[in-house]
Amino acid sequence: MFDILIRGGTLPDGRVADIAVRGDRIAAVEPAITAQAGRVIEAAGDLVSPPFADPHFHMDATLSYGIPRINASGTLLEGIALWGELRAIATVDEMVDRAMTYCDWAAAMGLLAIRTHVDTTPDHLRGVEAMLEVRRRVAPYIDLQLVAFPQDGLYRTATGRANLIRALDMGVDVVGGIPHFERTMEEGAESVRDLARIAAERGLMLDLHCDETDDPMSRHVETLAREVTRHGLGARAAGSHLTSMHSMDNYYVSKLLPLMAESGMCAIPNPLINITIQGRHDTFPKRRGLTRVKEMQALGIAVGWGQDCVLDPWYPLGTADMLDVAFMGLHVAQMTHPAEMARCFTMVTETNAAIMGLKDYGLRKGALASLVILDAGNPTEAVRLRPDRLCVISRGRVIAEKARNDSRMALPGRPASVARRHRG
Ligand code: FE2
Repeated sequence: MFDILIRGGTLPDGRVADIAVRGDRIAAVEPAITAQAGRVIEAAGDLVSPPFADPHFHMDATLSYGIPRINASGTLLEGIALWGELRAIATVDEMVDRAMTYCDWAAAMGLLAIRTHVDTTPDHLRGVEAMLEVRRRVAPYIDLQLVAFPQDGLYRTATGRANLIRALDMGVDVVGGIPHFERTMEEGAESVRDLARIAAERGLMLDLHCDETDDPMSRHVETLAREVTRHGLGARAAGSHLTSMHSMDNYYVSKLLPLMAESGMCAIPNPLINITIQGRHDTFPKRRGLTRVKEMQALGIAVGWGQDCVLDPWYPLGTADMLDVAFMGLHVAQMTHPAEMARCFTMVTETNAAIMGLKDYGLRKGALASLVILDAGNPTEAVRLRPDRLCVISRGRVIAEKARNDSRMALPGRPASVARRHRG
């Protein structure tokens, strides 16, 4: 007797299988399971996937769009300045409330693991306090990882480094940084060395905002790869954004990428934000500002897609749907080969989960019973349609359900069933 039986769904690898759940674990994944279950969910024709994971987000800033004003220039630098105004007035309760609303959105979208950077710049550390509370509240259904993120630079403020250490001591999970925002290239490189040492000494993961600029001479990723190799951090380290790589000299990149691959580090581009924010100082042609995704993957570097922002000082849109992120990434990185389109789905599920170091993830016996049923036939169709999440299960509990509803795509005056034809 199982608690839940999901019958006849299509897995991301194309297999059709039944999935049995007992307690918080997957008890079986087999072609046909005949045992009884407390609840049977029919999923024939639907995609059954492990949950979405987002390895790069800013939950202390989310859902604050327009407070106290909007980012008129649309640039990273005005966004940082605006965030400085917001964090000075935002209370712990306000940040918790906004983050909890976002987590509701995420859960409904099947996004059950999120790594969020938390600004450790202000001495009050209200953002850290708020996100620790959110992590505690959502723990039963969302894996929330916190990154100690010195937004204004590790060394640019008098207490930047001390506050990052305080945040880690308070229970923040991951060491963050922003070397391209330090005062000089030298101080940026020193911050990378310092932060990698802190991560290694504490046995923590490392995830730096790295070279989020159009300056082709911003090469802190080179130092990051060196330090990851030196400390043996491997896949427990990641470089986020890496946008300068878009503009780097090709000969230099031909040396850089093998060094990154040798280190075992991961990369987390954030296509919604990188395509929006980068290139703002250009006239024409305007650079895309997305890092070299396919080129890194060709060398075996794990590359995930991160969301970064939803309705905050840097981005006026967003839905908590990682398929929006994959859809944008696919376009900007020109990943239109069938294998590349399918890979974009894998990037927002399995690859992101691996980058976050999630344990017991995946659709296999013994893994945590966390999954999402989508109104799509396969991963590429899911990226194309960004369809309804029919059912979201976290650790053996159904946490979100939606009746199959075709009206989202039906045109006014046409029967809802027409929309089904969008599916292949
Ligand atoms: Fe970010």
